[in-house]
Amino acid sequence: MKIKHLLFSLFLLATVQVLVAQTIVGSKHDFSTATWNTSGEICKVCHVPHGAVVLASAPLWSHTLSTATYTVYSSPTTNAGTPAGTIGQPSASTKLCLSCHDNTVAVGGTTFIGTVGSPVGYANTGIDLSNDHPVSFTYDAALVALDPGLKPVTALSGIGTGTIASSMLFAGKMECASCHNVHNGAGIAHLLVKTNAASALCLTCHIK
Ligand code: HEC
Ligand code: HEC
Ligand code: HEC
Ligand code: HEC
Repeated sequence: MKIKHLLFSLFLLATVQVLVAQTIVGSKHDFSTATWNTSGEICKVCHVPHGAVVLASAPLWSHTLSTATYTVYSSPTTNAGTPAGTIGQPSASTKLCLSCHDNTVAVGGTTFIGTVGSPVGYANTGIDLSNDHPVSFTYDAALVALDPGLKPVTALSGIGTGTIASSMLFAGKMECASCHNVHNGAGIAHLLVKTNAASALCLTCHIK
């Protein structure tokens, strides 16, 4: 009995540890052991301490950006002609994700590693984003007024004590990072920012 309790406590301890200590290490974004990665480092594939590409969306960016022009998502609401919800070309950190995930730039194509390595052959969006959840548009009260099926951005997100606006939007916009944590911070499958069990992620913003 006692041993069982001890084992159970150890199991709980390990689970708690996993919950609080998830990082990029060992995740799909840890390329430290990739053959093309001669630096053997993790961060350098995307960030460098010196001589970086200057971008407001990610400090010290190093990965070669894509020059693709994308077909973006369209819907009656997002085409309503108001600034809210208008979907333009990918912006901010979405551009950073697409520097690998649109499949046009080598994953190892950082300024330091050179353009070796093969493009993402896995789960890439390509340059047609019309069949992907819309990103790079403003989600605010004006959009909610157009689409009453959306929660106000002041609603709690369930991510820490944050609201949708404070914990999921970037400069008021939806981006890939609204749903994904590139550094695996939450330690959830598909690098999600919160669990999507019973569609909890979707129901954070959609009233359905
Ligand atoms: C696969 C690419 C990738 C790798 C590898 C990566 N990052 Fe990032 N990082 C990003 C992107 C994209 C953003 C901007 C989007 C965001 O903040 O979610 C970012 C943002 C950041 C930021 C600013 C925002 C924040 O979360 O605080 C810091 C600091 C950072 N990264 C540090 C690191 C460190 C340290 C490592 C290595 C241990 C690392 N990153 C590895 C892609 C990467
Ligand atoms: C340096 C290139 C690079 C950048 C930048 C990058 N990714 Fe990735 N990502 C990859 C590769 C390569 C894989 C697939 C790895 C594999 O299959 O082993 C991947 C895998 C993923 C996965 C699947 C994870 C899993 O566990 O199944 C998700 C989700 C993802 N990336 C989202 C993002 C998002 C969102 C961003 C931007 C915030 C981003 N990535 C930026 C290269 C990148
Ligand atoms: C509205 C939320 C949301 C947004 C925005 C979003 N994703 Fe995802 N993504 C998901 C979910 C949920 C999954 C898990 C797989 C599934 O349910 O089909 C996923 C899966 C993925 C995968 C892995 C596919 C797999 O089979 O494991 C990649 C890569 C990915 N997303 C990249 C991106 C990129 C790049 C962007 C921005 C252009 C993006 N995502 C925007 C919710 C989102
Ligand atoms: C962070 C908030 C957020 C999350 C999380 C989120 N969405 Fe969305 N979603 C939006 C916003 C904002 C729009 C744009 C609404 C519009 O056009 O009326 C949208 C648009 C959509 C649309 C297109 C609606 C149209 O009129 O064309 C669908 C379908 C959708 N989301 C499904 C999902 C699913 C499924 C998930 C979970 C995997 C999800 N969303 C997660 C905010 C979110």
